[in-house]
Amino acid sequence: MKRPGKTRAFIRLPLLIATVSLVSLSSSWQTARTAESDANRSNAAVDSSGYLKVPDNYRKLYQYLGSWAIAASQGQGSDQLHNVYASPGTIDNYRATGRFPDGAVLVKEVFGTATAPMTTGIVSHAQTLKGWFVMVKDSKNSRPGNKLWGDGWGWSWFDASNPSKTTTTDYKVACQGCHIPAQASDWIYIAGYPVLKR
Ligand code: HEC
Repeated sequence: MKRPGKTRAFIRLPLLIATVSLVSLSSSWQTARTAESDANRSNAAVDSSGYLKVPDNYRKLYQYLGSWAIAASQGQGSDQLHNVYASPGTIDNYRATGRFPDGAVLVKEVFGTATAPMTTGIVSHAQTLKGWFVMVKDSKNSRPGNKLWGDGWGWSWFDASNPSKTTTTDYKVACQGCHIPAQASDWIYIAGYPVLKR
């Protein structure tokens, strides 16, 4: 005797399995694609000879990490404001693994300020962009002999007038000494970035 109900179930089960595996296949494909486009974005901060540049549109495409206010040595308020951004995916990755993923780009913009009384108190706000510090994660130290790369990162400063040509010639001279207090956290001053905390 025919039992159509059961036959249908037999057909439905493989169909269900096929659908589920297609969905999970396409989602892992999506993940791969996201990783790839993240990598492309970080490539946009490095040219083929290993020179860094300030990535285009980072204020729109990147994620905000945190800010620093440098107190004025005389008078009230802040002399400089620093805003730090990270390439897309960096924050999630750091929160999951406790590390900066390869290709991650950090951009720190440096502003001169104006300070004035406002309804909240004496307040400093960003006024003149002085330039950018850029770092690109490279855990494999894949550019030995390049003086802008080492200790797991690419390192460069850019004057505001030229976001695509660094004035840095040797990160060990221009950057590393000042980052020694942050060496244990991969040279990054993570205390200023609450979003990285798990
Ligand atoms: C005078 C000391 C000093 C020098 C020189 C310096 N840094 Fe930093 N850097 C700091 C400090 C301190 C912070 C965090 C606090 C701040 O911004 O004031 C920081 C923050 C950064 C950040 C944000 C991520 C982080 O580490 O918190 C980047 C990116 C960065 N520096 C890159 C560079 C690069 C690239 C160079 C060399 C071209 C460089 N720095 C040279 C002291 C320095």
